Amino acid sequence: MLVQPYNLMAQGFLLFLLFSYIIPTNILACKHTERSSLLSLASTLSSPLLNWTSMDCCHWKGITCNQDGWVTHFLLPSKGLKGGLSPSPLGNLTHLTHLNLSHNSLYGSLETHFFLSLNRLEILDLSYNRLSGELPLSLPSSNIRTVDLSSNHFFGAIPSSFFQQASNLTSFNVSNNTFKGYVPSSICLHSSPFLRLLDFSSNEFSGNLAPGLGKCFELQVFHASHNNISGLLPEDIYNATKLEELAFRLNSLHGAINDKIVNLTNLAILDLSFNHFRGELPLNLELHVQFNNLKGDISKLDFSRLSQLTKLDLRHNNFTGTVPVSLYSCRSLKAIGLSDNHLEGQYKLRFFH
Ligand SMILES: *[C@@H]1O[C@H](CO)[C@@H](O)[C@H](O)[C@H]1NC(C)=O
Ligand SMILES: *[C@@H]1O[C@H](CO)[C@@H](O)[C@H](O)[C@H]1NC(C)=O
Ligand SMILES: *[C@@H]1O[C@H](CO)[C@@H](O)[C@H](O)[C@H]1NC(C)=O
Ligand SMILES: *[C@@H]1O[C@H](CO)[C@@H](O)[C@H](O)[C@H]1NC(C)=O
Ligand SMILES: *[C@@H]1O[C@H](CO)[C@@H](O)[C@H](O)[C@H]1NC(C)=O
Ligand SMILES: *[C@@H]1O[C@H](CO)[C@@H](O)[C@H](O)[C@H]1NC(C)=O
Ligand SMILES: *[C@@H]1O[C@H](CO)[C@@H](O)[C@H](O)[C@H]1NC(C)=O
Repeated sequence: MLVQPYNLMAQGFLLFLLFSYIIPTNILACKHTERSSLLSLASTLSSPLLNWTSMDCCHWKGITCNQDGWVTHFLLPSKGLKGGLSPSPLGNLTHLTHLNLSHNSLYGSLETHFFLSLNRLEILDLSYNRLSGELPLSLPSSNIRTVDLSSNHFFGAIPSSFFQQASNLTSFNVSNNTFKGYVPSSICLHSSPFLRLLDFSSNEFSGNLAPGLGKCFELQVFHASHNNISGLLPEDIYNATKLEELAFRLNSLHGAINDKIVNLTNLAILDLSFNHFRGELPLNLELHVQFNNLKGDISKLDFSRLSQLTKLDLRHNNFTGTVPVSLYSCRSLKAIGLSDNHLEGQYKLRFFH
């Protein structure tokens, strides 16, 4: 009766030995070099919220490793991080695929050497920091899918080579910086056929919008409001038929809005307000086109194909006529503004929710 428990204990002890031998080779222990890179990073990015003390850095807050112990994810948004991004040991984490440091207080620039060493990067979010300087010559990797550099202090032109490698890019947001020069509208000519979102708003972009966006067949959102873009809207933009949002508020665009805008049947928001567009409205529209001196008999406009239209803002123009019956077919419409025109009669809007 005493033998069996003893055997069990012995077996248990053996199992314990076996497991304590096997397990450490299976868990995701971080590489020594990765740990020291992270530690020197932590010493430059002072944050009271980081508690990086244990041996295995793969279990630290914000850190994920792959099976070989390389750090792949570095996700520390809104952690009160303060410090310079470059030169920085971050560039030594060469297996990073996901980097999210948004809403911190990082300064410095995206120095080319540091940036290009992150050549496996897929997601880069540095939005809402104090980063400045010009962009490096190129995005670091053809794996890159999402780039958010918005709400920083970056300046200068976007280098023409910047998107050369970016064949998998789907989302690019540089709004709320001080970039200047041309909007890189040729972005889809040679690369990036998967682009869905482009946001260039609130910068100092100027000059004409070159053709090219029409090659962005997947483009759903294009924002370039609050810049100084001039000239005509390139006609090929009407080939981007998946567009849901198109915004050029507060620029210096002029000319007429092309009839081909009827191709954009998915459009939910068109904001062309505060530009210098003129001429008659084409056969249908959805939009914010206030203060544009648009003219013509509004009752001739055909709204029937704009089933996705959610807002129609035609205030402060020179439209005449009566509200067209086709507006009744815009079932998504939630807001409408027609004041300050020369419309006849009382327009009854009870069909809106
Ligand atoms: C980063 O890599 C460089 C070059 O490989 C090396 O000299 C440096 O010590 C590394 N820094 C850290 C913090 O590991
Ligand atoms: C820091 O981490 C250690 C070990 O991982 C833990 O024991 C300690 O409670 C943590 N401290 C804070 C303030 O989270
Ligand atoms: C970065 O983190 C913030 C906060 O969790 C999140 O809202 C944002 O979507 C993340 N960025 C990306 C590109 O996933
Ligand atoms: C694009 O991403 C896919 C995986 O999502 C990958 O297989 C492919 O190699 C990438 N393309 C390029 C040019 O890197
Ligand atoms: C781009 O980033 C800004 C924050 O800086 C955000 O407000 C905006 O919604 C983003 N653009 C799009 C189209 O999501
Ligand atoms: C623009 O960026 C600044 C920081 O550079 C930020 O404080 C501000 O909230 C941002 N504005 C918007 C509309 O996101
Ligand atoms: C409407 O047209 C008149 C006469 O051309 C012009 O004076 C006025 O400024 C225009 N209104 C708007 C809002 O552009």
